Amino acid sequence: MGKFSELIREMTIQEKLAQMTQIMGDCFVSQGYGKLMGLSYGFDIPEELAWNIGSVLGMGGAEKLRRVQDLYLSHNRHKIPLMFMCDIIHGYRTIFPSPLAMACTWQPELVEKSARIAAKEASVSGVTVTFSPMADLSRDARWGRSIEGTGEDPFLNSLYAAAFVRGYQGGGVGNPYQIASCVKHFAAYGAAEGGRDYNTTSIGDYDLFENYLPAYQAAVKAGCRLVMSAFNALNGVPCTGNRWLFQDILRKEWGFDGTVITDCTALYELIPHGYSETVEDAAASALEAGMEIEMVSTAFFQKGEELVRSGRISERCLDEAVEHILELKDELGLFENPYKDLDEEKEKQLHLCAEHRAAARDMAAESAVLLKNSGNVLPLSRQQKIALIGPYADSQELLDIWKCEGREEECVSLFQGLKDKADCILCPACGLREGAADLAAARKAASQCDVTVLALGEPPEMSAEAGSRAYLTLPQEQLRLAEAVLETGKPTVVVLFHGRPLELGSLAQKADAILAAWYPGTEGGSALAELLMGERSPSGRLTMCFPHTVGQLPLYYNALPTGRPKQGEQDEERFRSRYLDAPNLPLYPFGHGLTYTSFSYSPVTLSAQVMHPADVLTASVRLRNTGDRAGVETVQLYLRDMGGSRSRPVRMLKDFQRVALAPGEEKTVQFRLGIEQLKYHTPANGFTWEAGAFQVFIGPDACTENGASFRLEPDPQ
Ligand code: BGC
Repeated sequence: MGKFSELIREMTIQEKLAQMTQIMGDCFVSQGYGKLMGLSYGFDIPEELAWNIGSVLGMGGAEKLRRVQDLYLSHNRHKIPLMFMCDIIHGYRTIFPSPLAMACTWQPELVEKSARIAAKEASVSGVTVTFSPMADLSRDARWGRSIEGTGEDPFLNSLYAAAFVRGYQGGGVGNPYQIASCVKHFAAYGAAEGGRDYNTTSIGDYDLFENYLPAYQAAVKAGCRLVMSAFNALNGVPCTGNRWLFQDILRKEWGFDGTVITDCTALYELIPHGYSETVEDAAASALEAGMEIEMVSTAFFQKGEELVRSGRISERCLDEAVEHILELKDELGLFENPYKDLDEEKEKQLHLCAEHRAAARDMAAESAVLLKNSGNVLPLSRQQKIALIGPYADSQELLDIWKCEGREEECVSLFQGLKDKADCILCPACGLREGAADLAAARKAASQCDVTVLALGEPPEMSAEAGSRAYLTLPQEQLRLAEAVLETGKPTVVVLFHGRPLELGSLAQKADAILAAWYPGTEGGSALAELLMGERSPSGRLTMCFPHTVGQLPLYYNALPTGRPKQGEQDEERFRSRYLDAPNLPLYPFGHGLTYTSFSYSPVTLSAQVMHPADVLTASVRLRNTGDRAGVETVQLYLRDMGGSRSRPVRMLKDFQRVALAPGEEKTVQFRLGIEQLKYHTPANGFTWEAGAFQVFIGPDACTENGASFRLEPDPQ
């Protein structure tokens, strides 16, 4: 029995079920403190539930949380503190770029730093748990939640998931300014069919273990204290009722010892899923699967006692759940100090302080991806007259919908960032959502200037949760505006503000330069101005490819080969795996991103032609900065396994290095490959290796053909 067995013995079944329930924090304040509001599933919260509830969602602010905690503790007979949980996805008050943007830095250490800052700001406001990281692998830009994740690659996603956890939790969640991290959405939520949010997923064992599960596991290994169930069904079984996922994989195989929470109302959703017939069935299935906190619905509280009394669920099952919840509160130190780091004064000092703003600016600059730069139109110079046109020219809507306590009015717009650095005239020309563009004004501004910066994008509500789209183009009004500006023939730089890889159509050919800025956060405009004016050089790399057309989706670089592969993009042979009317490859592949200089790669050299399991093989290239500016190149190493008991992806990212070189400088970049990187998942033996031929590719993106071959052979007897 655990530390809290005595306390749990003293609790009634209803008190235990209340600990296992999470309601919206607003319930405590919306009608004045102590007055409670009903829930979306038509259930009023009775007093005895309110004063025993285990945690609340979506509430922050030191002064408010102190009052709610005081009020709560004055009513709770066991003096068990209330836990405050929140979606702190990319910052609390100082907002960093969206997670997919941060991923484009290829710098997990920066992501860790951003999470540390978010935890600091949240903890002084009284929040102790964040529902982050989202470790869902995403291969389909139609899925709006792609913006909340870190992309299409399992290796990078794992590095980032662990980095987020380290940042939030530091050396322990009880330490000052640290909060507990909840990885979500377990599992494979990103594989929603057709990219339509909440939709079902069908994933074979190999893909699940090799691609979808590793990032959640990395978060668990990094010590995240909570795991959230996903909305979707996985191979026919909704995750919230999926015993195999939560008991066999999470608890037994991965040894997770923290707390499991459902997603918002996901428990009741077992009924429309067609998995449970009644609320009792739903509660029973969720309990059996291992759900311990029910988010924003009350099936546990309504039906749990009946389930125990009828013997369908053992009281031991509730006790174990409550034990985990109380342990979490204990780890956070809430029994000694229910406010933890909550501090009204520190809140004023730390929120949006200069240091946090500087970190957000740095991250925004590192996240932007230069997709195209014909004729080196970028960087711009102070001598040029710039027309800044488009709905994002002076917009402060630079946060996505998970902006937490971030405020638009505190964001630096592109114009605000540029105006002191450049000779720039502002012509917004059309609003973000409605209103016809003033094409004449835009044409006039463009013609009067040397260069146009066209700031285009999709409004934040078009991505994130419930933000799936079947078309990935920019809004029509903006395309008309772009046409009008491009007709002037002036060099045009497009800066995109967006929540997913977009379908750029003819803009990709016609614009001279394209900079993907995503939702860049509080300091977006200052960072982008530094990049446009060449005060710093872009170095972001895509972690999700840009398709030519939505019809190519799902599209991802680490796909399995086919028996009839297309032999290059020019191959017109009919009976190949190809589209008649679109390329196979993306417009901009995974790993792509330019900077203001150029690099050349030598052919790959290997330390041996044959590798044995105990060996370390080194693979190297000479990298040279062939341009006239300093720059950073992200050198990427991909592997292909040429044959074996199952077919393997055409490319798998196994390592990368960011290398800074001065103009003309040259350096050997060396990677070490060990047996772990050569293993793959088999149903019978888990991750294992097989002898055979491999190819190593080293280059600037996933399409690189710069490769060399070796064989993996068993150890000599
Ligand atoms: C989302 C989760 C989020 C939760 C709480 C749900 O709708 O799917 O990602 O953590 O709400 O806000």
